Amino acid sequence: APTVDLTGKRILVTAGGTRERLDPVRFLTNDSSGKMGYAVAAAAQRAGATVTLITAPTALTVPRGVTVVPIESTQELADAVTSRFPQADALIMAAAVADFQPLTAATQKIKKTADNDELTLTLKKTPDILKTVAPMKQADQVVVGFAAETQELLKNGRQKLRHKHLDMLAANDVSRADIGFNGDNNQVTFLFADGTSQQTPVASKRVIGERLIEQVAKLFAKK
Ligand code: C5P
Repeated sequence: APTVDLTGKRILVTAGGTRERLDPVRFLTNDSSGKMGYAVAAAAQRAGATVTLITAPTALTVPRGVTVVPIESTQELADAVTSRFPQADALIMAAAVADFQPLTAATQKIKKTADNDELTLTLKKTPDILKTVAPMKQADQVVVGFAAETQELLKNGRQKLRHKHLDMLAANDVSRADIGFNGDNNQVTFLFADGTSQQTPVASKRVIGERLIEQVAKLFAKK
């Protein structure tokens, strides 16, 4: 179990890959399993926090004692996060949010016909949820992001930490087959706003979730 006590803290965790609808039966999504976010939510719950898990569809069982808010799209996730963030002591954004969504979702199933050998989809950028909540952030709130990178992990991670006004970012090298998206193990580097960093060993997502929650407890103590 985590070695910290977060009794009385309200922690909002997001998990899973968002789904962006093309039509009533199709969507764009990504490889996120939701395992890391669920592990973080479970660790926070074991540490005594009151946990709300905002989750995209996953194959996982919700951790006992955690309040669940199901969402599908980035817009639904954005609405769920922004409405709950003011009541939260910490936000941990482990969700793999789509960067683009279809400009319009077809209301009927898209049909193939004799003359459409090609189909062009127009996508538009999704709202950046962390950037949206940054201006709402109170001095005593802790905000943590994740970054899945395939190159220049630390450089890209530091940039995201700054641009998204985070207290901490968990940077994740997803180019390695042994850790990251779908596996049960992970290794992350925690980057902090004060410029320091700390790399975890390769460990189960359960253990990485606990290490992350221990860092969140330290961040609360510094507020
Ligand atoms: O920019 P990038 O997607 O790599 O940043 C990852 C972090 O930002 C994650 O914590 C993710 O949940 C969050 N994010 C977000 N809104 C988006 C895209 C990502 O809050 N539209």
